[in-house]
Amino acid sequence: MELPAALRAAVDRALEGVPLAELQRAADTLSSRYRAELRDGRLHLSDEMFANAYLATRLPATFAAVRASLGSAAELMPDFEPKSLLDVGAGPGTALWAASDCWPTIDSATMIEASQAIRKVGLALSAHSAVAHVDWRAADAAKSFEADKADLVTLAYVLDELSPAEGLALVERLWAATGGLLVVVEPGTPAGWRRMMAVRSRLIELGAHLAAPCPHSHACPIVEPDWCHFSRRVARSRLHRLTKRGEVPWEDEKYIFLAASRLPAETFRARVLAPARGGSGKILLKLCLENGSVEEKLLTKRDGDLFKAARRADWGDVL
Ligand SMILES: C[S@@+](CC[C@H](N)C(=O)[O-])C[C@H]1O[C@@H](n2cnc3c(N)ncnc32)[C@H](O)[C@@H]1O
Repeated sequence: MELPAALRAAVDRALEGVPLAELQRAADTLSSRYRAELRDGRLHLSDEMFANAYLATRLPATFAAVRASLGSAAELMPDFEPKSLLDVGAGPGTALWAASDCWPTIDSATMIEASQAIRKVGLALSAHSAVAHVDWRAADAAKSFEADKADLVTLAYVLDELSPAEGLALVERLWAATGGLLVVVEPGTPAGWRRMMAVRSRLIELGAHLAAPCPHSHACPIVEPDWCHFSRRVARSRLHRLTKRGEVPWEDEKYIFLAASRLPAETFRARVLAPARGGSGKILLKLCLENGSVEEKLLTKRDGDLFKAARRADWGDVL
């Protein structure tokens, strides 16, 4: 997945002239803080250099994950046409760009962000977005923030920076602010999945309808050490590659998400939970099924149309 051209150009402009060695140092520190899920009372994006490192190395991947999550929900909610967005822990405005790419109907957005450094970057980028009214607000979302109800509410890659209790309290508040759809996205690690399971249980208790990725609202059938997650291939720009000292022009971003709706979304029978395996004439798919079970299903040519659909199905697709 590539960034939208206007965002790519705005990011390139923002990073023009930033010394590579400084970017690399900041990216290394940022990456080790994220990997350790460090909660030491400091925001990860506490200054301009960390904000720049996020733009260079994380924005393309979180954009891909958020865009794919929104796309999965949109597929099952064809009549949903949001006009307003509320995004919390907005960073450089990733969800604004992903949401307006998915739903060009969005014409106003409220972006809540605690870090002054990344808010400044996000504000500058969003001037180039297609959304007419974008309101950036400084707030610690774990404490309190002011925001009207919005059709679409997003919380992407934020829960890992909050304590479990703060995270669930925030999700409850965001659900109360959701007019149509709430989408939560987290890294596709076992820890990210566990956090998402807690969010899932709480939203079901609150009466939410799960639009995606789950085909049911029964207990999650996945048992540790397995965990549910998806993946998107992300194109790396030259600067991204240099900053990460990477060889290949792409990386795979693993993520997990939950889309919770006020109205029931379209139902579906199964979601593909892993890359398909198989050889000629047969295919093995790991599926989450609408009856609440997870199953490895072997399909052969004898399964006719189902086999043809399975051959086309990708990890994360509805079958
Ligand atoms: C990993 S970044 C994700 C940014 C963006 N949502 C994305 O997906 O690219 C997490 C963001 O949440 C912000 N954040 C963390 N805790 C917060 C809080 N309590 N209130 C507001 N923002 C917070 C951080 O400053 C950071 O910008």
